[in-house]
Amino acid sequence: MLIGCIVPRPIAVVATRSTDGRINLAPFSFFCGVGSNPMTLLFCPANKPDGSEKDTLRNCKSVNDGGTGEFVVNVAPEAIIRQVVAAAEPLEFGASEFDLTGLTPASSRVVKAPRLRESPVSFECRTLQVIRTNPGAPAGGNVVLGEVVHVHVRDDLINDRLHTDPGLLNAVGRMGGLAYCLTRDRFELPMGVAALEQRPAE
Ligand SMILES: Cc1cc2nc3c(=O)[nH]c(=O)nc-3n(C[C@H](O)[C@H](O)[C@H](O)COP(=O)(O)O)c2cc1C
Repeated sequence: MLIGCIVPRPIAVVATRSTDGRINLAPFSFFCGVGSNPMTLLFCPANKPDGSEKDTLRNCKSVNDGGTGEFVVNVAPEAIIRQVVAAAEPLEFGASEFDLTGLTPASSRVVKAPRLRESPVSFECRTLQVIRTNPGAPAGGNVVLGEVVHVHVRDDLINDRLHTDPGLLNAVGRMGGLAYCLTRDRFELPMGVAALEQRPAE
């Protein structure tokens, strides 16, 4: 019900590094921004069918919980969507989805986790908190709340006011099942009651 009805969802391509230095990449579409002061976001890596934590959560959970307390959220444009979805392949802990997909790790500025070179936008994050809704249970939920400590944006995507051109970003959305959508079909509406004055999109 959640996967099929809360649509379309943005895709966070989350890069992490394990405490012993191995890099990991996986997509998560239970993902959204939280607030801008300070800039915060969240994503939700559910427990595996055996109730254990996915590698991303193992790596990014807080230091006092056994993780590194860091991660990088990369935006997924259409040009790399096949590799991004391929990064969902469950590999044994420590094996790298970068090697599997041919995507390239690049150095981050503040955190030790890498960013994704092919992504036009990357948010370097420090983990603020992990909320576990059903610890140890199959498919139990986990909310990873992170503070953005550095942002990388490709120069041509933003203007002087830091507004992004959605056409150039060309992000992909996740629908239910195996379906995805593109963000090329857009329309604008004024906010509030003025929206009622506008004819519906044709
Ligand atoms: C587009 C896409 C979105 C996904 N979103 C989620 C999600 O929000 N939460 C989740 O637990 N798994 C999600 N998955 C599945 C994970 O990517 C998959 O379980 C992956 O193997 C986790 O990798 P890790 O063990 O390296 O962290 C998604 C898969 C795809 C292809």
